[in-house]
Amino acid sequence: MLMKMNPLVSVLHLYDVVNAPGVTADVSHMDTGAVVRGFLGQPQLENALTGMDLVIIPAGVPRKPGMTRDDLFKINAGIVKTLCEGIAKSCPNALVNLISNPVNSTVPIAAEVFKKAGTYDPKRLLGVTMLDVVRANTFVAEVLGLDPREVDVPVVGGHAGVTILPLLSQVKPACSFTPEEVEYLTKRIQDGGTEVVQAKAGAGSATLSMAYAAVKFADACLRGLRGDAGIVECAFVSSQVTELPFFASKVRLGRAGAEEVYQLGLLNEYERVGLEKAKKELAESIEKGASFIKK
Ligand code: LMR
Repeated sequence: MLMKMNPLVSVLHLYDVVNAPGVTADVSHMDTGAVVRGFLGQPQLENALTGMDLVIIPAGVPRKPGMTRDDLFKINAGIVKTLCEGIAKSCPNALVNLISNPVNSTVPIAAEVFKKAGTYDPKRLLGVTMLDVVRANTFVAEVLGLDPREVDVPVVGGHAGVTILPLLSQVKPACSFTPEEVEYLTKRIQDGGTEVVQAKAGAGSATLSMAYAAVKFADACLRGLRGDAGIVECAFVSSQVTELPFFASKVRLGRAGAEEVYQLGLLNEYERVGLEKAKKELAESIEKGASFIKK
């Protein structure tokens, strides 16, 4: 629905293994510019993807209380593999926004699928970590007594627990926090997804704030594809910022996708410790994803 409202979208294809016709009929009545078509089930995947410039993948099962994102690997890894094989075949030049969890592993899965198919372009594969930024902006604004729209918190690393590393020393507008505030904010941002999973008590994870964040990121990608200058957002991408092959940091979005991946900048001691923890878990998640395809 939010993509149907985006003026940069001319054609919107909705694909799912259930309910796609109903959702398509519903959304198609909105008097916005995008033409909507629905596609149901794997036999229609090829048609769904043909001609697409941007593919957003939110597919898969959500967490229940007590689960980590990694507990979703078994089911979601196969779903992401199938969808990425479809992309490699039908729209190999599309920008891919990957939301399906565990993002720290599904992005490496996608990369390996594309490598196998000979279509891999690291600039065009983006793991969506925008929800971490959205949460960080909200929680930091609350503490500072500011409007969240005025706050910009870089969040680097990955998209699960300690791999989510908010750089509170780099918040804009410039500000300072007490050690207690840093501890509270870091933990709340890292556990934001779990906070929603627990509140929903078995009925899934974040869908509304996730949709908001996904569309905010997709819009940035579309503006980049259009050639707008200065579009910078955080995303989990192929990276040389650390020794890991994938890492979330600020990237400049352009016609080619993530055209520039920015360094982390100056970190304080608290963030350096957090970075080491994040890298340790990330290394395992990345390896798990890559070897799912390689084996
Ligand atoms: C989130 O951050 O809300 C999503 O990754 C869903 C989840 O399982 O936490």
